[in-house]
Amino acid sequence: MLKIKDLTLIRGQIIILNKINLEIGKNEIHTLLGVNGVGKSSLAYCIMGCSGYEIKEGKIYFEGKDITKFSLSQRAKLGITLAWQESARFEGITIEDYLSLSRKNGNDSLEEILNKVALNPKLYLNREVNEELSGGERKRVELASVYAMRPKMAILDEPDSGIDMLSLKKIRDYILSLKERGSSVFLITHREEITEISDKISLICNGDIVKSGNPNKVRDYFKRRCGKTCNLRKKLK
Ligand SMILES: Nc1ncnc2c1ncn2[C@@H]1O[C@H](COP(=O)(O)OP(=O)(O)O)[C@@H](O)[C@H]1O
Ligand SMILES: [Mg+2]
Repeated sequence: MLKIKDLTLIRGQIIILNKINLEIGKNEIHTLLGVNGVGKSSLAYCIMGCSGYEIKEGKIYFEGKDITKFSLSQRAKLGITLAWQESARFEGITIEDYLSLSRKNGNDSLEEILNKVALNPKLYLNREVNEELSGGERKRVELASVYAMRPKMAILDEPDSGIDMLSLKKIRDYILSLKERGSSVFLITHREEITEISDKISLICNGDIVKSGNPNKVRDYFKRRCGKTCNLRKKLK
């Protein structure tokens, strides 16, 4: 579905991503696991084609097509979407408007969509997506909008971060429901507890994919080997 080939990202003298090779299969939950500061969000921005993350070394293919030079909006049109680690605000737009704009299939009710992220539709549909919502509430709205979009590929950057009181089980159920609806999921996290639903895990350390494959094996390796100091040694160009 999505194939990343020898992707390298350099900032100044520092190698943020070092020849990343990854394949995310169709309808697969592929987890990118790694401690803070190792390059996970940077990889998400490269896949999405965010400004400042244009690919100079390496290639990205989506459904067999070379999308390396595609803009963010071209990639979005192909069905790739990203739920940001820090959710955005949209002044003047209600949650109802926002989800209606995202909704791909009119048969999904907005109530069902909000229930997926444990927000009570009666209390939230008319609220604005502004700073009056807490960070956790905005994050849930963003996850709801990804659900509504039915993307081919959903990149979830730390979907559990900042989500107050939303249980791990709810997050896992939410991710599984994306898969059930036909999406491939690239799940980015530093918490191994959330990775149990993965079909495959890739472990990133200091800009390198150090292991990729069987979820249990990679998780065990992470637990044994990746302490908090794992990311402290920066690689220089
Ligand atoms: N715009 C930038 N300029 C310079 N360094 C950056 C920039 N963005 C991120 N970094 C550095 O890149 C590394 C990886 O960051 P990031 O991708 O956010 O990691 P993660 O998501 O795994 O926590 C960090 O060391 C961070 O300080
Ligand atoms: Mg990050």
